Amino acid sequence: MTILHVDSSINGDRSVSRALTAATVAHLAALTPSAKVVYRDLGATPLPHLAQIGAGDAGALDEFLSADTVVIGAPMYNFGVPSQLKVWLDHIAVPGKTFRYGANGPEGLCARQRVIVISSRGGIFTGASPYASFDHQESHLKAFFGFLGVWDLRFVRAEGLALGEEMQQKALAAARADIAQLAA
Ligand SMILES: Cc1cc2nc3c(=O)[nH]c(=O)nc-3n(C[C@H](O)[C@H](O)[C@H](O)COP(=O)(O)O)c2cc1C
Repeated sequence: MTILHVDSSINGDRSVSRALTAATVAHLAALTPSAKVVYRDLGATPLPHLAQIGAGDAGALDEFLSADTVVIGAPMYNFGVPSQLKVWLDHIAVPGKTFRYGANGPEGLCARQRVIVISSRGGIFTGASPYASFDHQESHLKAFFGFLGVWDLRFVRAEGLALGEEMQQKALAAARADIAQLAA
């Protein structure tokens, strides 16, 4: 089994999503000690923007296609995903590789992959939050991976991180409990 570990936070050692992706990968690797882990740090080494059609980074695409499980650190930045992560999405959305258009419309080609998204955000966007419609981060990733045919898509969420120490500790504990439940 190959696990692809992707981080996109710009917050280095203070990053919540980085701590939680590391915990997720450690948990999965403990369940499957033979697992190979491939790491891509989009915060430290961003991919270039697509400059012309067909100029995607084949390395990023191959890493994604070779992975059985993909663990993605996806903080909310200005209501969406970090631009570094958006560029990575651009590199892996390749017709004929991860999706195709046929007589019946679009067809995702990534049913084999499991994707686990670690979502971190300062505010609260779930439940009855008046800001629920501002969530263009998880909703984008849900639409994107659904389009690629990924049906085993999970979100581990730590939200309300900017709302005080107590809220932050509660969010982190909930996320760590979710991680502990992830199957091999
Ligand atoms: C550039 C930037 C933009 C942010 N924009 C939002 C936002 O729109 N909504 C929100 O709830 N939190 C926002 N935050 C807070 C982050 O989502 C929160 O700090 C989260 O922990 C970031 O994950 P990280 O610690 O892994 O970087 C923003 C943080 C940064 C650095």
